Amino acid sequence: MFLFLTGATGFVGGNLLSELRRLGVRGRCLLRDAKKASLCEGFETVTGSLDNIPPGALDGVDTIVHLVGIMQETGGQTFESVHVKGTQNLANEALKAGAKLKNFFYQSSLGASLKSPSKYQKSKARAEEVVKDSGLPFTIFRPSLILGHVDGFTRQMAQMISSSPVIAIPGNGEARFQPLLVSDWVKCFLQALENGGQDRIFEIGGPEYLSFNDLVWEYMKAMRAEDKKFFHIPMGLAKAGLSLISVAKAAGVRNIPEVGAEQLLLLSTDNITEIDSIKKQFGFEPQSVRGNIRQFIPDEYSKEFQKTT
Ligand SMILES: NC(=O)c1ccc[n+]([C@@H]2O[C@H](COP(=O)([O-])OP(=O)(O)OC[C@H]3O[C@@H](n4cnc5c(N)ncnc54)[C@H](OP(=O)(O)O)[C@@H]3O)[C@@H](O)[C@H]2O)c1
Repeated sequence: MFLFLTGATGFVGGNLLSELRRLGVRGRCLLRDAKKASLCEGFETVTGSLDNIPPGALDGVDTIVHLVGIMQETGGQTFESVHVKGTQNLANEALKAGAKLKNFFYQSSLGASLKSPSKYQKSKARAEEVVKDSGLPFTIFRPSLILGHVDGFTRQMAQMISSSPVIAIPGNGEARFQPLLVSDWVKCFLQALENGGQDRIFEIGGPEYLSFNDLVWEYMKAMRAEDKKFFHIPMGLAKAGLSLISVAKAAGVRNIPEVGAEQLLLLSTDNITEIDSIKKQFGFEPQSVRGNIRQFIPDEYSKEFQKTT
């Protein structure tokens, strides 16, 4: 087996590489920045981008693991260019190179739908269509929130909780999530890798539904910040606040969490699937994220609980 990995330098990719390294699986990572090659130790690397996949990048590859994704649009990085066009380019290259693929693995997102009001979710659904229409054998994962060392959501929560004496939650905070640990995501992935592309879509989530309010509270407890007050601000006001945030950032105010309009939208929509999705499809019980959160909080935010431990 020889893999071609995109998004290997990210949170999910990094956790996956550690496990693949341990198992002795070989592969090649696509890097935008050659300086990040050390993150892919033990794997071949090739420098390029989804717009510019270098010749020979797919030589000898039998499995593509396409993890690239963005949560916010910035400059030329749009959901359309990264998720849809990037996936199309990769599929085209695989077909052009005549790669004898056993599996094109695509990491989509729970809630991906062509009808979603979220541009992120819509573009994920369009990328899924690209993969399905390519004629290549595929596996698509649609995970809920993935938590682990150190995911973007945890980083944002830690920043939000540590940066202010009060915590403002956009909307009513009642939208539900089904977070799973990255180690459980990796276990599911390894089974999919073993099985090869069976042209299937897997919706996956952890063993419990947690509202955004529950999640904030879990992070507050993990950071020993239970004494901080939290309150809700109407979603409309939160959206208006985004422009104030960008003004403040432009003026050099630091420590404001990165929140975008897309994220506010995602915070107001349930992001759940069947409660036993992993047990049913992969045959094991995933772990609860409760009780594990503290170990994922980046060191720079750990002052919050060091004071009291
Ligand atoms: N984390 C979650 O909770 C979660 C939940 C559901 C689905 N997902 C999906 O899972 C995937 C991985 O998520 P993650 O949390 O690991 O994200 P992440 O930490 O933000 O990593 C994103 C990766 O994508 C790469 N990338 C971004 N834009 C690119 C481009 N234009 N061309 C090539 N590479 C590009 C980044 O490379 P650089 O190092 O060069 O920036 C990085 O390796 C994404 O598709 C995401 O939508 C994540």
